[in-house]
This record gives sequence, C-alpha cells and structure tokens, in this order.
Amino acid sequence: MIQLDLNHAHLKENVKDYQEQVVSIDKQLVSKTCLGNDFIGWMTWANDYDREEFARIKECAKKIRENSEVFVVCGIGGSYLGARAAIEMINGLYADKKPEIIYMGNTFSSSYIAQVMDYIKDKEVVVNVISKSGTTTETALAFRILKQFMEEKYGDEAKNRIIATTDKARGTLKTLATKEGYETFVIPDDIGGRFSVITPVGLLPIAVAGIDIDELMKGLHDGMGEYGDPDLDKNPAYRYAVARRILQNEGYDVELFVNYEPQMQMVAEWWKQLFGESEGKDGKGILPDSVCFSTDLHSLGQFVQEGKKVLFETNLYVDKPMIDVTFPNDEANEDGMNYLAGKSVDWANKMAAQGTLMAHEETGGVPNILLTMPDMSAYSFGNMCMFFFKAIAMTTLMNDSNPFNQPGVEVYKKNMFKLLGKE
Ligand code: PA5
Repeated sequence: MIQLDLNHAHLKENVKDYQEQVVSIDKQLVSKTCLGNDFIGWMTWANDYDREEFARIKECAKKIRENSEVFVVCGIGGSYLGARAAIEMINGLYADKKPEIIYMGNTFSSSYIAQVMDYIKDKEVVVNVISKSGTTTETALAFRILKQFMEEKYGDEAKNRIIATTDKARGTLKTLATKEGYETFVIPDDIGGRFSVITPVGLLPIAVAGIDIDELMKGLHDGMGEYGDPDLDKNPAYRYAVARRILQNEGYDVELFVNYEPQMQMVAEWWKQLFGESEGKDGKGILPDSVCFSTDLHSLGQFVQEGKKVLFETNLYVDKPMIDVTFPNDEANEDGMNYLAGKSVDWANKMAAQGTLMAHEETGGVPNILLTMPDMSAYSFGNMCMFFFKAIAMTTLMNDSNPFNQPGVEVYKKNMFKLLGKE
C-alpha cells in the first residue's frame, strides 16, 4: 500500500472539508455515472479480467522468451509507456535478462528507426504491435517497416512472430491481424490507453520481461480495496487528489514528480501521461513535470530551491531498494570518503532525500507531498497503478473535467495529416 504524508504540504485548507464532494464523486465513479463513464473498466478490472486470455498471455510470453533475442514493442503513449515503466522499475536498467526489449512506433525519428532496424537485423526477433485505435500514425509507420523486415527475414514464419494487441473488432490493425493470422490480444473497450498497462497492452511485454504478472494483478486487486473507501481518513489516493486541488487553489500550477531511483524514470513518464492527458483540458489542470534526484539536484534543483514559486513536489519514495550496496573502506582514505565506510548506499540516498526535503520545504518554501511505496516489485507496481488511477480520476472530476478523454491530442494530428497529404 502507498503511504501518504501531507505534513510537509502546508495546505491552507482542510482536506476533510472536501469529504462531501469526494463521497458524491466516488458514488458517480462506482455507479458509472461520472463524466467519461464509458472508460472506467479499470476500476474493477482486477476482478473482471479474462482468465483464459491471461493464461494465453503467459503461454505466449514463455514461447517468446524461448525463441527470441529481441522483443520489439511497437506502440506509443498508453500503448507502451506503462509496459516500459513496469519493466524498468521492476527489473532495473541493466537486468541481464533475455530477450532484450526494444521500443518502436513511438517516434517519427528516422535516425532512431534506422538504428533500431540495424541493431535487430541479425537477431531473432518477435514483434508486438500495440494500438487500440489501430490507426496511430507513428505506430503504423514503424509497423510497416517492421512487418516488411520480418517477412523478408522469416518468410511465412513471420506471422508466428508478430503479435497484435488491439481492439476486439474494429480498426485497421485488427483487420490486418485477422487477415495475416497473427495471434491477437484484446484491449477492452472501457479502458483507455493511459490506463491500459493492466491489460494485455502492458501484461504481455511485462511477462516477456520475465516479471510475475500474477503478482502485478494481486497488487492491483488489493489496491481496489485499499484505495476504494470514500472516507478521506481511510483513502490515501483520495487525500492526495484533494491535496492537489487545494494546492492549485493556492496558485501552484506545476507538480514536480520526484523520485530517487533511476529505474523509476519511466514511471515518471507514465505518470506524466496519466496526469497530463487526464487533467490538462478545459483551460484547467496542473502541469505534471518530473525529476530524478539526486541527479537532477545538479540541474533543476536550483529552480526548485530559488526559482519562481509555481510548483509543489510529489515525492515517490521507495522503502526498500532492489539491491543495496555497502560502501567500502579505504585505508589510505585519499578521497576523504571513509566517513561513509561500512554504511549502506541506500541509506545515503535516503539521507539525500531527507536533506532535500528540508532544503526545499523549509528554506525554499516549496510544499511537498510524500508518497512511500514498500519496494519496486511487480506487486507494488500493480498497487501503485490503482493508487494513481483513483487519484487522477477523483482530482480531475473535482475540476469538472472528463478524466478519460484527450480531445486536444487530435489537433496536431489534423495539421500533420494535411501536411503529409493524407486523404
Ligand atoms: O491515453 C491514450 O489514450 C493515448 O495516449 C493513446 O494511448 C495513444 O495515443 C496511442 O493510441 P493507440 O493505442 O490507439 O495507438
């Protein structure tokens, strides 16, 4: 369970004053009568998911682990960020695991695409193309290149090395997958892209990375109860949701998501998409940004400490590191570092976090929200998903916006299609 501490947020209003509004919105969520009510399948997904498909995901992942050196995840936005966030958080950045997971379909950069194609050309490859709409241009462009490559490399066998995760009935990708005979997995109608890491969108790549998806689903399931109570005293996700609204009322328009683990940087990217796309609309919302400390204390830290007071920080601390290191003694002590000899490096990381909190809160006057997760396990990832899903749904509905659409994303597409000459 994620622990929340608002003692460093210096809220000028009382969280409990929002209890009535929270109860009313929670009722709308549970009874599926809120704005965007077509897209709240994630609320009960941990109970409702298709067990047969789940078993097929595990089976398919096992086969891929046996017959590939590289697994290419081809998708953008919600169709890749969650999987990447989970894989990097749980396995770390330098996990000695096969197959290697590579991401495509998330950029028009020709340099990136060409380098990936060159890198994979002599390796055993399996491709997972992921798109709910089945028409996203970045993904479709990359997939055509990948498909031709696979067909040239494997001939008829290519169709057994391409897996499509898409809508159950609609869209170009679904039609293509059926025609080619690809194995397919379904993205449920009532779960939007940025909530879809808990569906086959995330689960297949995560399972291919050797991660226990049963554990992930267990964490998600437990989160349903832990973040399910409308009582603010009992629900840290809703307290966090209310605290954000209070801070925005005080004029804080930027939320800086802080972590101290490089392997959580993609969690930050996933969180930015989840919060930015859900809340940034109708001329409202808090801009989500992120830093990884202490790395970024040597860059953005200066702004946080002394720059314009536009932001508050939300720290996601991790209680137990994936691996700890004991700092070595050195007889000569020429670097003067022996004061740390025999100490845990994770302890030093935590002292850095404590020192930073004091500096930003007390000297810098920056409100800080503290979240703590127990570890970086699959269970904790699933549990964290439910925490942030519930929080963003509540906090956006409190703003009278629909948390589950993203109409603004269409504007660039229209311009781009015109420039590209699409009919
Ligand atoms: O949250 C969302 O819905 C979006 O970010 C989508 O995930 C993203 O645009 C990719 O869409 P699709 O899966 O249809 O290719």
